[in-house]
Amino acid sequence: MEDTLIYNLKIKSVIHDYEVDFTNNFAKSLDEELLDGDFIILDSKIAELYSQDLTPFLSRHKSILINANEQQKSYQGIIPVIQTLINEGFRKNHRLVAIGGGITQDITAFIASIMYRGVKWIFFPTTLLAQGDSCIGSKTSINFGEYKNQVGGFYPPNRIIIYPDFMKSLSDKEMKSGMGEMLHYFVVSGEADFRMYESNFMNAFNDKDVLAQIVAKSLEIKKGYIEKDEFDQNIRQVFNYGHSFGHAIESLTKYRIPHGIAVSYGMDMANYLSVDMGLVKDSVRREIRSILENIWKGFPLADIDVDTFIQALRKDKKNVGNQLGLILNKGYGQIFKQLIDVDKIFVDRIRQYFKDELNDL
Ligand SMILES: NC(=O)c1ccc[n+]([C@@H]2O[C@H](COP(=O)([O-])OP(=O)(O)OC[C@H]3O[C@@H](n4cnc5c(N)ncnc54)[C@H](O)[C@@H]3O)[C@@H](O)[C@H]2O)c1
Ligand SMILES: [Zn+2]
Repeated sequence: MEDTLIYNLKIKSVIHDYEVDFTNNFAKSLDEELLDGDFIILDSKIAELYSQDLTPFLSRHKSILINANEQQKSYQGIIPVIQTLINEGFRKNHRLVAIGGGITQDITAFIASIMYRGVKWIFFPTTLLAQGDSCIGSKTSINFGEYKNQVGGFYPPNRIIIYPDFMKSLSDKEMKSGMGEMLHYFVVSGEADFRMYESNFMNAFNDKDVLAQIVAKSLEIKKGYIEKDEFDQNIRQVFNYGHSFGHAIESLTKYRIPHGIAVSYGMDMANYLSVDMGLVKDSVRREIRSILENIWKGFPLADIDVDTFIQALRKDKKNVGNQLGLILNKGYGQIFKQLIDVDKIFVDRIRQYFKDELNDL
């Protein structure tokens, strides 16, 4: 295929509209995108793995390498980046061009939003999670101390270019994390989209066209919600499905379990509680779980202390007063938010889940 751009999605935003393009020629797309004065913010692993493609651009444009870890995504971590931009003559009319996963994205977006009261930025997502989820939706957060994503705002890129071939170098862990993260969109969307994901799941790991279709569908589903509720005030909140529990798992395992795999456990916990409360049939939970088991296989949870887990759940941004704001399941396409008391019944259910449900892993 010689065509550079093979798919296009337009996203409406209160801040500014933007487009997502897919490309099968990374070097050509980067060449067409880069303007004089643009600064490349690059995941150091991508710099290493794709040095042949990148070398000509790195000799023509200034760049900053990012070590993609959660410590880097913090006030302290971004100080040297801002310092370099100022020292090297970055101006308000120049742009930041981010190439990397969600960490590189969040660092670049956050800096772009505050630098000179806002500069333009372009994003080439290189992980499955960033391609199929985080690249759209405008969220820009960095961590504060030990707490994740505490400081930030909404500031979408001016353009996103997806090169599906970046997936070739992605580890099994990051592939599964991306597949887990995307699954929650398909359950929220409804049964037809869930069946599409389910029937393509296995092939997605070794057929890049199948994977690109899942990525595109995931973005289309997300687009429908972020265009109506960009600032996460109402309907977008259903995408926290699996996330209250997932964040607690990430925090208790000190990020040993990556986000999309933690969310996969989180979806199963939400489904388990939903069955227990008579909201959804057990068969629905089983169908979803048979995919989730493939995602979390090889990434078992070590002993989870239930009291510490409940404490972590209490930190969730969606909680109201003493109640937890959980996203529960009434069926495909019927994911909803419910306030739940942290009473003995709830704590016992969580204890029972960890005791009985994860034994065969
Ligand atoms: N802003 C948002 O809307 C949003 C949404 C979801 C998650 N996030 C954030 O994204 C972060 C997680 O992002 P992520 O999962 O994309 O991963 P990441 O950026 O942490 O990268 C994961 C690992 O993969 C490596 N990597 C990246 N691309 C690669 C490639 N093509 N081949 C080989 N290795 C590659 C990185 O160097 C890193 O080691 C978290 O900090 C999370 O909070 C943000
Ligand atoms: Zn997520």
